Amino acid sequence: MKQSPLQIARSWYMPKIPTIFQTHVDIVEQTFIEPNNDKEQIQDIFPYTYGQPLIKFKAGKSKEYPQINVGVILSGGQAPGGHNVISGLFDGLKRLNPANRLFGFIGGPGGMVAHNYTELTKEIVDAYRNTGGFDIIGSDRTKLETKEQFDKCIEICKQLNITAIVIVGGDDSNTNACVLAEYFKQKITGIQVIGCPKTIDGDLKNEYIETSFGFDTACKVYSELIGNIQRDAASSKKYWHFIRLMGRTASHITLECALMSQPNITIISEEVAEKNMTLADVVDDIVRVIIDRGNAGKNYGTVLIPEGLIEFIPAFKKLINALNNLLAHNNEEFSALKTPDEQREYIKGSLNTDNLAIFRSLPIGIAQQLTRQRDPHGNIQVSLIETEELLIEMVAKRLAQLKAEGIYKGKFAAIPHFFGYEGRCAIPSNFDADYTYTLGYTSALLIANNKTGYMAAVQKLSEPATQWQPIGVPITMLMNMEMRNGKMKPVIKKTLVDLEKAPFKYLESKRRKWAANHSNFVYPGPIQYFGPSEVCDQPTNTLLLEHNKSL
Ligand code: FBP
Repeated sequence: MKQSPLQIARSWYMPKIPTIFQTHVDIVEQTFIEPNNDKEQIQDIFPYTYGQPLIKFKAGKSKEYPQINVGVILSGGQAPGGHNVISGLFDGLKRLNPANRLFGFIGGPGGMVAHNYTELTKEIVDAYRNTGGFDIIGSDRTKLETKEQFDKCIEICKQLNITAIVIVGGDDSNTNACVLAEYFKQKITGIQVIGCPKTIDGDLKNEYIETSFGFDTACKVYSELIGNIQRDAASSKKYWHFIRLMGRTASHITLECALMSQPNITIISEEVAEKNMTLADVVDDIVRVIIDRGNAGKNYGTVLIPEGLIEFIPAFKKLINALNNLLAHNNEEFSALKTPDEQREYIKGSLNTDNLAIFRSLPIGIAQQLTRQRDPHGNIQVSLIETEELLIEMVAKRLAQLKAEGIYKGKFAAIPHFFGYEGRCAIPSNFDADYTYTLGYTSALLIANNKTGYMAAVQKLSEPATQWQPIGVPITMLMNMEMRNGKMKPVIKKTLVDLEKAPFKYLESKRRKWAANHSNFVYPGPIQYFGPSEVCDQPTNTLLLEHNKSL
């Protein structure tokens, strides 16, 4: 395969690791931690893995570790750094015992159930070091929940003599990891399960997990693109750019990109929900800025929109919940309908008056997007809902009215954008390359110390990598009960943007200024991999602000 000069240079990059990992380490068991919500139900569902202590590491002596075989699964959406979790895991295992072997399950959790695997040799791992993508073994979104699936997993582990599995994934995939760890322990299989916090969405975080991997690189890629668009807007002065950004339910990506690029308007879904705003209110907020700028002769600008926005508008939330239930319980009947018109009529006939009114008010395309198949975890596929088009249409209508009334004197021409897939497989930034390698390495150490039902994590991430502190977090403490596919299920709680915390407060304090002028635009430029540390190794602004550092 032909490689670009950057790929070749990048393959020699040695990820920076915490100093503690440059020596032999022992684990230190800290205090026992519990989930914040639904403790009793979680304890009942996970009696074998509930109540484990937090794990830290300290310098120790060289030890002999028995030879083991380990399996690894990449799960869910791609995130920059997945390949480095595998190289960190591989190197960690080989350092513990050079005879250790690593198997990759091909095509995610579904691949494990179907017994698709490959041995990950040094030659294979070396070819993927510091690269983006998940193509070394692929991924999928299969939900592991049936006894048949679990038994298939045990079968392949026995066949390959695998005694530990690492699941690299987001909240849903780590929920899989927790469920699997519990089942394996209950059945006394001796198979351990360790999770790694992956997702560009940045919503897998809490007081122990500071950020998920991939968020850093994805935000830097999107911010580069936003910066380029802003420079174009400031040069040609003729378009408003409505930019929807991935991130599923949470607005972390939108917030981070706003902090990096300083756009004119930033919508944060969590704020929309907090203020109980309607779609018309969101449109009015946008329109106000466009009018002020237009009346001052500035008929251009940028609007950042989180992809999950629609789920946070109370009336839409009700409609989406009703559609989720309807599709969960009548999926077969619904899927059997042949044309979009038949499906639309079927939905209309099943909604109550309020939901029906909202559904009817939507452009046909958007209404159809809302009824698309849910993913295997029961999530609505927000990446397929073109909220930016909906907002442009509504804003244009409102501006036309205001123009007729003589209130608006500007011109409005808008261009929609959606940035998501552009950033998920980017070459990982130094931060993500170092962080993911450390996560893989930490997983190897948790396995060597017989831990199961844990997630590898790293603390002090806003410090230089040498000062990072790897830890192991019991996954049950991250769980709560939520409605999925029409049933209450234990799942890892997503962390949304906290309106009381520093990253949002910073945006709030700057918004008015950023709305008014293009001289506030920031043009972050592309990720740099080689050069001064302040250019190449910076963590996200979100992490810096959360750690009380200034921007
Ligand atoms: P994960 O939660 O699996 O990390 O996926 C994140 C994500 O990129 C979301 O931001 C987006 O809504 C979704 O995946 C898109 O999924 P798909 O790859 O199935 O289109």
